[in-house]
Amino acid sequence: AKKIIFDTDIGIDDAMAAVFAIASPEIDLVAMTTVFGNATVENATRNALHVKDKFKLTNTVIAKGTNKPIVNAYVDPTVMVHGIAGLGDVDVPVSTTCEAIDTPAYQYIIDSLKADPNNITLVAVGPLTNLALALAACPEITKLVKEVVIMGGAFGLNEAYGNKTSCAEANVYLDPHAADKVFTADWPVVIVGLDVTQKCIFTHDFIDNLRTTAGEMGQFVWDVSRFYLKFYSEIVGLTKGCHVHDPSAIAYVIKPDLFTLRKGPVRVVCEGVAAGLTIQKLDRKRYHVDNWSPHRAQCVAVDVCNEELVELYRSTL
Ligand code: BDR
Ligand code: CA
Repeated sequence: AKKIIFDTDIGIDDAMAAVFAIASPEIDLVAMTTVFGNATVENATRNALHVKDKFKLTNTVIAKGTNKPIVNAYVDPTVMVHGIAGLGDVDVPVSTTCEAIDTPAYQYIIDSLKADPNNITLVAVGPLTNLALALAACPEITKLVKEVVIMGGAFGLNEAYGNKTSCAEANVYLDPHAADKVFTADWPVVIVGLDVTQKCIFTHDFIDNLRTTAGEMGQFVWDVSRFYLKFYSEIVGLTKGCHVHDPSAIAYVIKPDLFTLRKGPVRVVCEGVAAGLTIQKLDRKRYHVDNWSPHRAQCVAVDVCNEELVELYRSTL
């Protein structure tokens, strides 16, 4: 199985992604590292510990991450989307059986990559702050990671421009400086953005079916999704279900050939009206952009076999 460190602001779709990873025989969930975003980092950590407890993940480490972006000021959690503490209206108890380790998330990431070089995939589905801190503290990790898979960004394909603002996806928007560091570092990054995640939908019926056929995990997904589905129908205007954001990053790890990738350096607009906008430089040869990514081209997911992805989720759970 592929070893992953799952870096998450664990809210509702993050939890859906976590159970996907836990259920998949292709994945060994080495750790969940937490970050602010959908919830405060305290609540995200409590949610991660709850998942560890509930699904008896004795070998999965929980490391608490950072509570604010690397440059910008602290931002409040996205309670409108994920509820007061991140998992909708599910009341998450404080774990009495497990705790986060003392090492902060970024340091845990560095230590793990050093201890097991070229064998661990980082899957990041929240603001990219922990990854940027790890890169700053130990730039050599670019040579030690197997792959970095990110749910974030939007590249204007399939009508996907932004969900936080009209040009920015939430994870990138919440820490654009961190995202730019992560996207321009010399390591192999795959970006699974709104372009593909909004093509995949978990319908109400699909989640109801999981509840009756997928045991405790199905019930958990059903419970956490109540609040989210209400947000989608009342605020987003999508009445049939919800988009499949974070589970799509896990799907990429399990079955990369569900996705079509496009190569090219990626940058993030860090300030101003377009803050959080992600741009991929394409080789059109008609113009020249200086100071673009100094390193390798990154891969952006431009298309997905959406029905197959949703079916993979169902069959895995
Ligand atoms: C991303 O933002 C968060 O609300 C979700 O958990 C997901 O990671 C989608 O833009
Ligand atoms: Ca997330």
